[in-house]
Amino acid sequence: MQITKGDVAVITGAGSGIGRALALHAGSLGMRVVAADIEAPNLDETVALITDGGGTAIGVQTDVSVPEAVEALAAAAFDRFGDVHLLCNNAGVFSGGFLWERTLADWNWVMGVNLYGIVHAINSFVPRMIAAGHPAHIVNTASMGGLITNGYSGPYYTSKFAAVGVSECLAHDLRGAGTEIGVSVLVPSLIATSIGSSDRNRPERWIDRNRERGADEEFVVAALTDSTAGGMPPAEVADIVFDAVAHDRFWIPTKPSYHDQIRSRHDAMQELQLPPGPPID
Ligand SMILES: NC(=O)c1ccc[n+]([C@@H]2O[C@H](COP(=O)([O-])OP(=O)(O)OC[C@H]3O[C@@H](n4cnc5c(N)ncnc54)[C@H](O)[C@@H]3O)[C@@H](O)[C@H]2O)c1
Repeated sequence: MQITKGDVAVITGAGSGIGRALALHAGSLGMRVVAADIEAPNLDETVALITDGGGTAIGVQTDVSVPEAVEALAAAAFDRFGDVHLLCNNAGVFSGGFLWERTLADWNWVMGVNLYGIVHAINSFVPRMIAAGHPAHIVNTASMGGLITNGYSGPYYTSKFAAVGVSECLAHDLRGAGTEIGVSVLVPSLIATSIGSSDRNRPERWIDRNRERGADEEFVVAALTDSTAGGMPPAEVADIVFDAVAHDRFWIPTKPSYHDQIRSRHDAMQELQLPPGPPID
């Protein structure tokens, strides 16, 4: 989809990391930006970064795991700007450690944000975008962890496989329905963001105050924090995403290693073996 100055972009998880970079990039193209995040101070900062530079942006504090909140976000975007051309379902959280140590609260949180955040946006935004009747594009942020698996991160990988699945299904449905709404799925390798401190945004209803973090969880969160610190800068991810949208590419990897990782997974599947689980780089 060709983006035109004045088009409207809605970006969730826009207070930090990849989401903020997507919002700033959209603002730099002259798009009107609706930034959404659960974390109000960071969200305000993102909006200020756009408006201080002469751009147009509003912030809508939103917990994407709550359907009514996402419905209110869609209503706010269409009330204020009358349209949405680009929807980036990017908000995401990480919970790690051995699967058998993960509680139902961990699962509900990770699936609630990483999968249901997208589902809620499909329900609230897509009917309005179809009714608008013009080309538009949806980018869902999954992960290389939505295409390959490894240990210590079961709920995260599971949620990201689901994010990939729902993105493929959405693309089929939108094409089948004859719309001009494209879909892409962002599958980043390691990016230098605050994903390692996801717990800062865990809603109260999914915090178990009687439980301490186990060594398995401490280990993987520390490893994630260390490894993402050396990752690609989010601004580079935004460049890659907007190029992919302009060229209507479905898959948006951020590193060439994607090709070997996918190949080794599919080779193992052809051999009926467990895929090797390469570290995400
Ligand atoms: N950083 C990486 O290496 C990496 C790799 C692959 C995929 N991803 C994905 O990229 C996306 C963005 O994460 P990031 O790496 O920029 O991390 P980040 O923590 O810097 O940003 C995530 C943003 O999502 C927001 N958020 C969390 N819960 C929310 C909720 N319930 N409702 C609304 N907003 C919420 C946070 O406040 C934060 O601003 C996530 O979906 C993540 O899974 C990240």
